[in-house]
Amino acid sequence: MRDTDQLDAEGKTVLLRTDLNLPIEDGEPQKTVRFERYLETIKELSQKGARTVVMAHQGRPARQDFTSLETHAEMLEEELGKDVNFVQTFFGPQLGDAVASMQDGDVTLLENIRFLSEELQNVGAKRHSRDYFVENLAKYFDVYVDDAFSAAHRSHASMVGFTPLLESYAGPVMSNELESCKRVKQEFQSGILVLGGEKPSDIIGMMKHMIEDVEKVLLGGIPGELELNLEGHSLGEKEQWIRDNNFDSSADELEELMREYSDKIIVPEDLRTDSGVYEPGEVPEGEMTWDIGDETKERYCQEIHDADAVVMKGPMGAFEEHPEGSEIVVECIADSDGFTVLGGGHTSSLVQRFGHELDDFDHVSIAGGAFVRYMSGEELAAVQALENQ
Ligand code: 3PG
Repeated sequence: MRDTDQLDAEGKTVLLRTDLNLPIEDGEPQKTVRFERYLETIKELSQKGARTVVMAHQGRPARQDFTSLETHAEMLEEELGKDVNFVQTFFGPQLGDAVASMQDGDVTLLENIRFLSEELQNVGAKRHSRDYFVENLAKYFDVYVDDAFSAAHRSHASMVGFTPLLESYAGPVMSNELESCKRVKQEFQSGILVLGGEKPSDIIGMMKHMIEDVEKVLLGGIPGELELNLEGHSLGEKEQWIRDNNFDSSADELEELMREYSDKIIVPEDLRTDSGVYEPGEVPEGEMTWDIGDETKERYCQEIHDADAVVMKGPMGAFEEHPEGSEIVVECIADSDGFTVLGGGHTSSLVQRFGHELDDFDHVSIAGGAFVRYMSGEELAAVQALENQ
């Protein structure tokens, strides 16, 4: 796989796929580690004299964070200290004119690529390379650089469709993440997993592949609550919320894992709502659980302290409003003498949010699903596309 160290970018039109999918708070995208890493890639290409057109997505259709990238363009402009042209079309003369008017070092950002339905089809590189927008967009570029490691598990048009058409390179984020994840896989032979967040299906996939080798799994976030609910504990309003959001779709797989590995999987002993901290089953009707409670924080920190290696993926609760559980767990991991890894878009954003340095951990991956799949031994579609071209 070629990387951008081998690219003489000066004067070239570069189509750069990044992952600027950021947490949105009060309508504003947040400047997380992910944003900073892509800022570096864009700066680097710009300084090398490339004419860089950035592609990215934000959210998924029907989700609240599925929005335009207009504010992202303003954020880039502010950080780069230069104009960033924001273009709302993906093909045709308006795009052609925008690219043709670029000078060496200029940067353009395209609108949320997921506004195009073709983007989201999960088909192979050859098939995507024949998509109307892919064929037409490719015409304006000398090279394609894929730096979106965190979306590398998606066989989406912008992730795989350009590799059969353009000379293609892995960007610095992609290369570094691949190297670090390889190291994590080698070094994390045994230890504990701390798993939370909002995507139980990802977490269950990771557990299935790794549980034989790990010592313990500490569950928090939605996966922890789902398991408590499966054990028959009532969770107030959260039960209905889990069902409404279809987070119970992987319930059977979780139950099966629990049957086989109940000695390894630890679930929260208490949960926080607006009115206090309750044991599972005691959560008052009509109240929503937001976070793990004090007993759980203490137990999880002790486990982290005793472990030789810890991998955390997913916050312990709704950290935007109720950060305490996630904050204490991240702090215990930062203080650990063992090998420590944080993975995931939200999880990596906790480093800055809670005042830590990236160096406090052995690796901080900005990828969630791609990190999980890599750790689970699965091939990543975009990496394969770069390797096959
Ligand atoms: C992520 O944040 O994990 C990536 O941007 C991929 O997003 P997705 O899960 O919506 O494809």
